[in-house]
Amino acid sequence: MSENQESLAKLGHENRLFPPSAEFIAQANAQASMYDEAEKDRLAFWEKQAHELQWDAPWTTVLDWKVPFAKWFVGGKINASVNALDRHVAQGRGDRVAFFFEGEPGDTRTITYAQLLTEVKKTANALTELGIKDGDRVAIYMPMIPEAAIAMLACARIGAPHSVVFGGFSADALLSRIQDADAKLVITADGGYRKGAPFALKPAVDDALKGKTNVKNVLVVKRTGQETHWDSNKDVWWHDIVDRQSTEHVAQSFDSEHPLFILYTSGTTAKPKGISHTTGGYLTQVAYTHKMVFDIKPETDVYWCTADVGWVTGHSYVVYGPLINGATQVMYEGTPDTPHKGRIFELIAKYKVSILYTAPTLIRTWMKWGDEFPNAHNLKSLRLLGSVGEPINPEAWMWYREVIGGDRCPIVDTWWQTETGAIMISPLPGVTHTKPGSAMRPLPGISGKVVDDNGKEVGLGHGGYLILDKPWPSMLRGIWGEEERYKETYWSRFDGVYFAGDGAKIDTDAAIWLLGRVDDVMNVSGHRISTTEVESALVSHAAVAEAAVVGAADEMTGQGIVAFVILRGGIPNVCGEELIKELRAHVAKEIGAIAKPRQIVVVQELPKTRSGKIMRRLLKDVAENRAVGDSTTLADPNVMALISQGLSTAKDED
Ligand code: WT7
Repeated sequence: MSENQESLAKLGHENRLFPPSAEFIAQANAQASMYDEAEKDRLAFWEKQAHELQWDAPWTTVLDWKVPFAKWFVGGKINASVNALDRHVAQGRGDRVAFFFEGEPGDTRTITYAQLLTEVKKTANALTELGIKDGDRVAIYMPMIPEAAIAMLACARIGAPHSVVFGGFSADALLSRIQDADAKLVITADGGYRKGAPFALKPAVDDALKGKTNVKNVLVVKRTGQETHWDSNKDVWWHDIVDRQSTEHVAQSFDSEHPLFILYTSGTTAKPKGISHTTGGYLTQVAYTHKMVFDIKPETDVYWCTADVGWVTGHSYVVYGPLINGATQVMYEGTPDTPHKGRIFELIAKYKVSILYTAPTLIRTWMKWGDEFPNAHNLKSLRLLGSVGEPINPEAWMWYREVIGGDRCPIVDTWWQTETGAIMISPLPGVTHTKPGSAMRPLPGISGKVVDDNGKEVGLGHGGYLILDKPWPSMLRGIWGEEERYKETYWSRFDGVYFAGDGAKIDTDAAIWLLGRVDDVMNVSGHRISTTEVESALVSHAAVAEAAVVGAADEMTGQGIVAFVILRGGIPNVCGEELIKELRAHVAKEIGAIAKPRQIVVVQELPKTRSGKIMRRLLKDVAENRAVGDSTTLADPNVMALISQGLSTAKDED
């Protein structure tokens, strides 16, 4: 953990403290007493949060815990879509705006809770007509448009677990996810808008479905009007089938432990993990955290989480949490620099956004673009700022606070994972005195610790591994179809406790500082990509014999992907620009553009131990332009000198 030790030293100097203002405290949803309350009786605390939801039948057991398998609110019956929609309409909130949608080209739609409910009911009826029943898996591959949320809620309404695949993933990545979950239906769009132009999605679905699947239909939203190949045996236009459905649909209640969704995320091997979440516990924790961490006042706030529904943040803090709490949200389809670098700020001013939740990579990008863009817009409506996805460096935190938040908005740096389902470590606005760059402490009801190699808690002021030692309602219930892998990945490093994969430090005030992944998982712009996944994409190219991939510190994206490749015999041993371009395009095809290496270095040899294990640590030193660390265990001690000499680069030009 040499990199971690460096960061530890740096973090030791962060002494700034930002207490909440008296005005914020006076109106805050969260109270300091919640920590004690939860500590005294954790299960009673969670029961109280669960009572905020509408249940169709009460649970008989709060928690059934047989390590590592949890069941929450056992026996309870509930419907996710009813909690997100019907409840608000039934209680007279149907006219409240659920979404202010802004397309990238500037088209807008305002959708109330009543309208959203009607659309979800019609879509649920359409899914039923297409033969989808509870338990069937549905893959969703969409741009960031309201139909993405409608599709998810319609699946939830009929008990069909959704598997949302980020629209930036390739056909190959989509196919492997469709196959792994054995999806029966794919919901997609002809395309969407990004960077000022339409991009196509349907062709990727067509490509994917050339593989062997059990997909019977493809339901297609018309978004861009692009010419699309059509197979009338399989393809169905959304407007043809959804629009003619009845607006009546009585939701069925499902067991609290009924699967709600699968979401694939990268692990340390090439095969993505299908993280499985169920209903009652998940909804309880996303609603609770959304209310407390974002201090949501649904009557007056306009909330904007900039995440795509393809990631867990979009599931928990665009779809389920905010809708259950009756929030009014902004949803934006496009990129932050289209048509100009002030687009996000323009939208904050236009919709009077009061709560903004985004990622450090975007904050650092804004910093680079310059203060003139935010300064050109009225951001006074903002009252709370959130950050998620990767550690936020103190400089970016301070800039976020001063330039975006006008020095008046509390910042919540929220640590969690696809696996945890909901926020776990975060300040409580109105309670916590925050430090720039720290996620502070576990939320009331959550137990997290920093431990050493032996699983023993480290003392204050020390670093180690972050673990979660008590089950929580929104925890993953497993990896889809891979029980052994679930146990092995999360529960074997330290006996009986969940190992998150992150390094962390707990300072002398018991504030937690996240230090990044300690395994072979990279974090690029807040997205998890495994080194092995990129390596196997590279070696699947005819020119590559061997590949080693590392995540190197990157000022903008947190980490950048750097690949070292050995070419196959017979391939001219020059680091041709053409070949490197081709390799980068190949990775984009295999996984998606987000996994394209920032840099590819052609080498003669990789640094290996005598037992043949690649020493990525040394490659990381090279990639981060550091003196190469201890290489005495290398089989061939000269290899590192050769690699450092042979550095040849091809920078990402898009
Ligand atoms: C990994 C989880 C949680 C939704 C988005 C990412 C890193 C996440 C923080 C934070 C430091 C963070 C961790 C974690 N991470 N939030 N506030 N501070 N690191 O979800 O793709 O499942 O990735 O993201 O390394 O393990 P994910």
